[in-house]
Amino acid sequence: MAKEIKTIGVLTSGGDAPGMNAAIRAVVREALGKGLKVKGIKRGFAGLLQEEIMDMDARSVSDTIQRGGTILQTARCLEFKTAEGQERGAEICKKHGIDGMIVIGGDGSFQGAQKLARLGINTIGIPGTIDLDIACTEYTIGFDTAVNTAMEAIDKVRDTSTSHERCSIIEVMGRGAGYIALWCGIANGAEDILLPERYDFDEQKLVNHIIENRKRGKQHHIIINAEGIGHSESMAKRIEAATGIETRATILGHMQRGGSPTCKDRVYASIMGCYAVDLLCEGKTNRVVAYCNGDFTDYDIDEALAMKKGIPEYQFQYCTNLAI
Ligand code: ADP
Ligand code: F6P
Repeated sequence: MAKEIKTIGVLTSGGDAPGMNAAIRAVVREALGKGLKVKGIKRGFAGLLQEEIMDMDARSVSDTIQRGGTILQTARCLEFKTAEGQERGAEICKKHGIDGMIVIGGDGSFQGAQKLARLGINTIGIPGTIDLDIACTEYTIGFDTAVNTAMEAIDKVRDTSTSHERCSIIEVMGRGAGYIALWCGIANGAEDILLPERYDFDEQKLVNHIIENRKRGKQHHIIINAEGIGHSESMAKRIEAATGIETRATILGHMQRGGSPTCKDRVYASIMGCYAVDLLCEGKTNRVVAYCNGDFTDYDIDEALAMKKGIPEYQFQYCTNLAI
């Protein structure tokens, strides 16, 4: 028989993402509406191990849907990667009466969620990361806001780049995943995009492309470089020396992780928060909420973690085709 959940815990873990507050708010209010108690855990798994646990009511999440960051704060916690840490985490949940847990974060956080589920705490993951690098879902909380923030910033750099007839290398976030770079490449009309998944480090090819474009009458050359490749400053110096074209590097950095969430991030995060509570109420555990083929769904966490996601080659090719 499915375990009846009376108290839900919620935490955010890994890198923060705009829209996490909308998800927390949805978890709290959907659960309260179903007659459950809700406990907020501060600073992810680190706060769980420190027992930073507080009761949440409807007012605890007032005035948060429009705010970036996470009101519960977030952390990375090495101790939770150990069996002892995980067992202590599960014991702390039991001590505080938490029989259902919702973990908002990325793949790393889902591994933590999986361990709690194995230790008897019914646990559901909600995908929260600006990187969009969770294989089982076409949507992750924060990507839409982050990519729009980056796009607006790149438009601004493009204005000055065109005025000065420069080459601009703009570094966007994504250590292991190039989705922000790919989307900005298309949205900003970039001449080149360098993605961790496929960049071949052939700088001469870039140099040739810049020179060809200048001959074709292009007044600027925008290169979107993903954080995973990095070294934008030194690349700019080398490109300037090789092309004779003034080249500047701009690293957008953590501004991409902050700011008020877009409508999409607020709506999808809210739906995912409610959906996660409903899964717990149905007695489900070890699931991750996802968005696929136009609708919300859920996967077994083990299955979700085993899935692989790559950059769609044709989208990369279209970006290149449009940069002539
Ligand atoms: P993200 O969730 O964004 O992928 P991280 O990879 O930094 O971010 O993971 C966030 C946290 O999840 C880690 O600091 C750790 O507490 C927990 N975590 C990551 N991997 C594991 C694991 N293999 N087992 C248990 N917990 C993990
Ligand atoms: O949340 C994802 C992400 O922003 C990655 O794109 C980036 O590589 C990483 O987090 C940076 O994390 P930190 O907060 O440790 O600088």
